[in-house]
Amino acid sequence: MITATAKIEIRANAQFNKVFKPVNECKKRYRILKGSAGSGKSVNIAQDYIIKLSDPKYKGANLLVVRKVEETNRDSTFAELQAAVYRLYGEYADRFWKINMNPLSLESKVTGNRIIFRGMKDQSQREKVKSITFKKGKLTWIWIEEATELQPEDVDILDDRLRGDLEEINPNLYYQITMTFNPVSATHWIKGRYFDKEDPDVFTHHSTYKTNRFIDQAYFRRMERRKIEDPEGYRVYGEGEWGELGGLILTNIDIHDFPTGPEYFDAKYLGQDFGFNHANAILDVGWKDGEIWICSELYVFEMDTEEIIQMAINRNISKRTEMFCDSAEPDRIKRWKRAGFRAVPVKKEPGSVKSQIDWLKGRKIHIHPSCVNTIKEIQQWKWKKDPQTGLYIDEPVEFMDDAMAALRYSIERLRRGSSIEVLK
Ligand SMILES: Nc1ncnc2c1ncn2[C@@H]1O[C@H](COP(=O)(O)OP(=O)(O)O)[C@@H](O)[C@H]1O
Ligand SMILES: [Mg+2]
Repeated sequence: MITATAKIEIRANAQFNKVFKPVNECKKRYRILKGSAGSGKSVNIAQDYIIKLSDPKYKGANLLVVRKVEETNRDSTFAELQAAVYRLYGEYADRFWKINMNPLSLESKVTGNRIIFRGMKDQSQREKVKSITFKKGKLTWIWIEEATELQPEDVDILDDRLRGDLEEINPNLYYQITMTFNPVSATHWIKGRYFDKEDPDVFTHHSTYKTNRFIDQAYFRRMERRKIEDPEGYRVYGEGEWGELGGLILTNIDIHDFPTGPEYFDAKYLGQDFGFNHANAILDVGWKDGEIWICSELYVFEMDTEEIIQMAINRNISKRTEMFCDSAEPDRIKRWKRAGFRAVPVKKEPGSVKSQIDWLKGRKIHIHPSCVNTIKEIQQWKWKKDPQTGLYIDEPVEFMDDAMAALRYSIERLRRGSSIEVLK
């Protein structure tokens, strides 16, 4: 049983951004949260649900968490909810929540309320959603993270699941769908459906990184820089406003689970883009049947080379695999070599970025769901626009492109064959 003291403790640990107060109090059927990256939407929703699902007042409630790609839940929504449990309960976490890794689920030991995770990528995943049942209570709440990835039909299927009388289970229960996302295109169906018309069942909300009191200073500085360097991207990622979807560079991607051991590939390569204020990104990339497989990422900010090398060693990043690095920083390459890695510079030539991109565009790129930063980057990596003509030009926007640089480097052996040897 939850004791009075434990309850007080939970409240004391819960820290919220003020801007989300109306969100967390809202009982309308649709809670639609748009906002800039880093505004605190995901953390807030995770905490909100952990508290509500722990509350005997809502006994009988159950939460379904949905992302387009089911496997991406583990490192995003599940991780977020798990972190919320630890943030709220500290050392008492295990007394109050049961957390399962396979299949992913969380269960309140106080109420028996559960959280489960699903995807909406294809017909079989959609069918799985239709057959969800809970031992105790009913499916009452659905959280759709990165909701812009879904089709309106997907949401209709989910919406259909929230039906039937709740009164007899518990009169405090209510049905609700929560969506969190960064707005993308101004023509997106979510805008038309929830923002452009009045609907008493819909609550819409807007937040930015500026109203997130927990955001770190480095993030703040990166955003401020984007404001100057990429105004159009800043509108979407900084202000959280509807923007433009056009001009994406790599759309030939498929995010899904796959085995990442070297035995599954014809070859493996590492790509590294150095950074301190920008991210330092290392990608472990497999090559098989003419397709590219991004297996894992190491993605860190404001760390010096020795720290990153140590992390790479701890993560078992292979010292036998060639590591293609930014040639602009020979000192860092030397340090990686000294630590036993096969670091090789990738020479930049006029047009090489464009050629690397062309090469990448011609192949399918599989991305392991654990590569959350690579996924974020690739989904917003765009061509620059000529301010005069409004047309896209053959040059990528130089923002949030560190994993993309690592990816470009990682394929140099494949693209250039043995001729790359000359550069050593
Ligand atoms: N209530 C909170 N308590 C502690 N840290 C928070 C809180 N809200 C946000 N943060 C911090 O801000 C970062 C960005 O929040 P997040 O919820 O991931 O933003 P969004 O989902 O809007 O992109 C988090 O990684 C976390 O470090
Ligand atoms: Mg988020």
